[in-house]
Amino acid sequence: MRKNILAPSILSADFKILGEQLKQTEEAGAQYIHFDVMDGDFVPSISFGMPVLASVKGATGQTLDVHLMVTEPVRYVKEFAACGADIITVHLEACEDLGKTLDAVHACGVKAGVSIRPGTSVEELIPYLERADMFLIMSVEPGFGGQPFMPEALKRISRVRELLEERGLDRDIEVDGGIYHSNVAEVLRAGANVIVSGSGVYKGDIRKNVAEFMEILKNYE
Ligand code: DX5
Ligand code: ZN
Repeated sequence: MRKNILAPSILSADFKILGEQLKQTEEAGAQYIHFDVMDGDFVPSISFGMPVLASVKGATGQTLDVHLMVTEPVRYVKEFAACGADIITVHLEACEDLGKTLDAVHACGVKAGVSIRPGTSVEELIPYLERADMFLIMSVEPGFGGQPFMPEALKRISRVRELLEERGLDRDIEVDGGIYHSNVAEVLRAGANVIVSGSGVYKGDIRKNVAEFMEILKNYE
């Protein structure tokens, strides 16, 4: 049985009370914290980096799921690992040598993920299916929270699950962008098991939002 995991994206959190909000997601059952790093180059916006991750590490026992939207992320792998990342996901489009980048992540004792933007063919993941622990299918163009879910992501998730199953590989498939209570069941059915949500968790009552997500996630295990 594959475990379904909720990864609230702190991009939508209120940073003046971040510690409190992390606790709320943890107590309500969210297993991961999704940490979006943007460099103003691979994506237009700039978010936060190592010092914030180190503070988050000290404030929660949740798994720190770091999504690097950064050009040539291999340059920063060691630093993010040292600041407490448990999973480091890099973009296939951002790496000159993806294999080497994944090896660098593993060398730090951290799980490695590969992400693709909505316009990148899923088939480009094939050479890395054995080499990564997680595959992140973006369901929005990376760069900003609060964008609408792109339904084409569903087929892409199913295709990755199929490619993995054909090879007998049990890996996590994460989906990120525009996920709410109203559409999470579809992405679970398509084969994703790690669910990122920013607006869907942090807008409104955080505990209630997480609890409702967890209820749906359990029903699909
Ligand atoms: C977008 C980020 C997402 C973002 C999701 O580039 O990778 O993690 O925070 O936010 P929502 O859930 O609001 O679409
Ligand atoms: Zn993300």
